Amino acid sequence: MSHPAPHPRKIIIDTDPGQDDAVAILLALASPELDVLGITVAAGNVPLPLTQKNARVICELAGRRDMKIFAGCDAPLAQRLVTAEHVHGKTGLDGIALPDPTMPLSPGHAVDFLIDTLRREPAGSVTLCPLGPLTNIATALAKAPDIAPKIAEIVLMGGAYFEVGNITPAAEFNIYVDPEAADIVFRSGVPIVVLPLDVTHKALTSREWVERMRGLGTEAGRAVASWTDFFERYDTAKYGSLGAPLHDPCVIAYLLQPDLFTGRQIHVAIELEGRHTRGMTVADWWRVTEGAPNAFFIGGVKRDAFFDLLTERIARL
Ligand code: BDR
Ligand code: CA
Repeated sequence: MSHPAPHPRKIIIDTDPGQDDAVAILLALASPELDVLGITVAAGNVPLPLTQKNARVICELAGRRDMKIFAGCDAPLAQRLVTAEHVHGKTGLDGIALPDPTMPLSPGHAVDFLIDTLRREPAGSVTLCPLGPLTNIATALAKAPDIAPKIAEIVLMGGAYFEVGNITPAAEFNIYVDPEAADIVFRSGVPIVVLPLDVTHKALTSREWVERMRGLGTEAGRAVASWTDFFERYDTAKYGSLGAPLHDPCVIAYLLQPDLFTGRQIHVAIELEGRHTRGMTVADWWRVTEGAPNAFFIGGVKRDAFFDLLTERIARL
């Protein structure tokens, strides 16, 4: 007996591309299990005019000129924008020269798209996938609190605990850029899955994998190889490890194959005041407080299977 194909899972990707955001977006667009309703863009790795342009470059590369891409917030809720050109280069997508995009942005603000979509779609049917600072998501939750119970899940890349910080000794970049936004999201009551540095620093590219990407002989394969090469030089210099951590693709891989990952349901608080620790994700991994669990905090990944999944999917583009 043949079974009908299950409906693809509806997602909205919220992003600030970024080379690893780009690989995550390609992975999602290559995966029939996912129905990407739209891509909302925020300022983060580089300012908004560049992140929204990069999102369009990536979709055109994937042959998806039809994708809805919305520009969103250009600054964090309560502080000035911190960017990461030292990691991602001047354009945010350094590593390979790609044509300027010709597809337009969708009209309207990313926050309104998030609100309208969540109000329109059946409750529990849309998953949000933030790959950058949480400004757009928090603004939508603050403006329209009625959407919170309608969100199926928020699966995000951000934070760190045992691995501590990458932008300060205590804080991970996405959370550090907009701690007030992260605080709103983590206190929203929406089910949250966190892919922190604790796991993404285990998802390190190997030379062999990068050359496999290049060897695909496709534009997407060449781009992934060149982006990760660019990204790697920073992490190698900083951590002394070989390979680039594919942070954001972990979010999409989790949606596709959650059994590749292990974690714990725990309480996570966002530090807003610490003199040295602002933006830290204070994760109660050992459950030493009464804090009610609000997040599934991931710590482990089956690395080889993760890269096999990426290879198989990127090869489809
Ligand atoms: C996160 O920060 C960005 O630089 C990456 O794209 C990733 O989302 C890692 O800390
Ligand atoms: Ca990112």
